[in-house]
Amino acid sequence: MEEKIIDETKQGIALSLESKAENTRKLYIESYGCQMNFSDSEIVASILVNQGFNTTSKLEEADLVLVNTCSIRDKAEQTVRKRLEKYNAIKRINPSMKVGVLGCMAERLKEKFLDEEKIVDMVVGPDAYKDLPNLLKEIDAGRDAVNVVLSKDETYGDISPVRLGTNGINALVSITRGCDNMCTFCVVPFTRGRERSRDPRSILEEINDLAQKGYKEITLLGQNVDSYLWYGGGLKKDFKNASEMEKATATSFSGLLAMVAEAQPKLRIRFSTSNPQDMTEDVLHTVAKYQNICNYIHLPVQSGSTRILKEMNRQHTREEYIELIDKIHEIIPGCGISQDLITGFPTETEEDHQDTLSLMEYVKYYFGFMFKYSERPGTTAARKLKDDIPEEIKKQRLTEIVDAQRKHSAYRTNQFLGKTVEVLIERESKKSDAQWSGRNPQSLVVVFPKESYKLGDFVMVKIADCTSATLIGEPVGYSSNN
Ligand code: 5AD
Ligand code: SF4
Repeated sequence: MEEKIIDETKQGIALSLESKAENTRKLYIESYGCQMNFSDSEIVASILVNQGFNTTSKLEEADLVLVNTCSIRDKAEQTVRKRLEKYNAIKRINPSMKVGVLGCMAERLKEKFLDEEKIVDMVVGPDAYKDLPNLLKEIDAGRDAVNVVLSKDETYGDISPVRLGTNGINALVSITRGCDNMCTFCVVPFTRGRERSRDPRSILEEINDLAQKGYKEITLLGQNVDSYLWYGGGLKKDFKNASEMEKATATSFSGLLAMVAEAQPKLRIRFSTSNPQDMTEDVLHTVAKYQNICNYIHLPVQSGSTRILKEMNRQHTREEYIELIDKIHEIIPGCGISQDLITGFPTETEEDHQDTLSLMEYVKYYFGFMFKYSERPGTTAARKLKDDIPEEIKKQRLTEIVDAQRKHSAYRTNQFLGKTVEVLIERESKKSDAQWSGRNPQSLVVVFPKESYKLGDFVMVKIADCTSATLIGEPVGYSSNN
């Protein structure tokens, strides 16, 4: 549970199974931060497999090391800096090894990265991955290479990602890029640029291909999935003018969800991340309507105080958030809800903090991701507000919300005792090789004896025991979804 709650930045070294025998150069790619970065690394790997690279898990034998970085908090950036030190040590043994920095830190620091970290040969922002073949030529010729141009329309919709570190069961499918919300604490609008949606046809193609390859669950990804909007399609002659046509044929997020759910009724569908101000009731009705869309919503709130939400430019009040929570329970009974929260935002008083705790008490989230405020250069909060909450108080408040979350998680897991839930087997349990581990629709981890079940099976599991983070049970048969 600790890891899930205080989780700084997830890390993954990724290997692909889709190598090409004729490829001779070795790529080592490592990702930090959000799921979007992991998904982007799969796009990057796909581009590089077509440039003569295969992935390796051995840093020492790499010709090219790429690190996909996160800027969301200072600590995330420090983690990457430490990794660069490690690469430096390897480069002393293997001087021809090249190092490229991708993602949000590349975008934020741009050329400065080359001066600050001598080890870095290449700096590539999140919208510039298609330029990698050219940038590689530059570094092969011994020159540094930088492309951090942000785009208004790049969605990589035409690139079929190479699946990295895959279990062959869960896959990430990106549907939007960037964010226009401008929460005052957040660096993402600066590092990932303007919001844009991907053509639904390419999304469907990718999903159909995944289903055909035997994948069982997909997560539709975007910084703000509810603002997904695609204009296009339809015959012009049926409409008075272009704008009328665009409106009539637009695909919203709920439309996309329904399309995906209908195209692949056996596939489990998840989505992340939702933003309270953009989430519409029709999305909730769509989740309720389709049995294969998981009853689970990740709904970051950041703070339970309306005053702080305003300072954060979150575009909703505490009351509106609560209304939305009530709506979710009304339309999707038994829906799992999780949160992101920030403690110690500038000017946060003890009263604001208590508001957060009481909101948590009201919602009783299934789980959550909680962070101390970290001032990010260039954001509105950094420019306008002093980072005035002492570290000790931030820490204390974080401990309090983590403790509250642990209590609520335990409340939620306890509610499943004696119930039978559908679990998709995703991996072996970390604690025992005699047990499978998977998740129920609400995204709670379930472990149970393997018996004769296999990875990727949908199994009905009767819950007999639990911790605050895990349900423990016995399998009682296959789910009808198999
Ligand atoms: N400080 C701390 N947490 C942050 N997040 C985003 N920016 C910051 C920051 N400057 C958190 C938010 C967001 C999650 C992805 O990271 O809770 O939802
Ligand atoms: Fe950042 Fe807010 Fe956009 Fe999320 S919605 S990426 S927190 S600006």
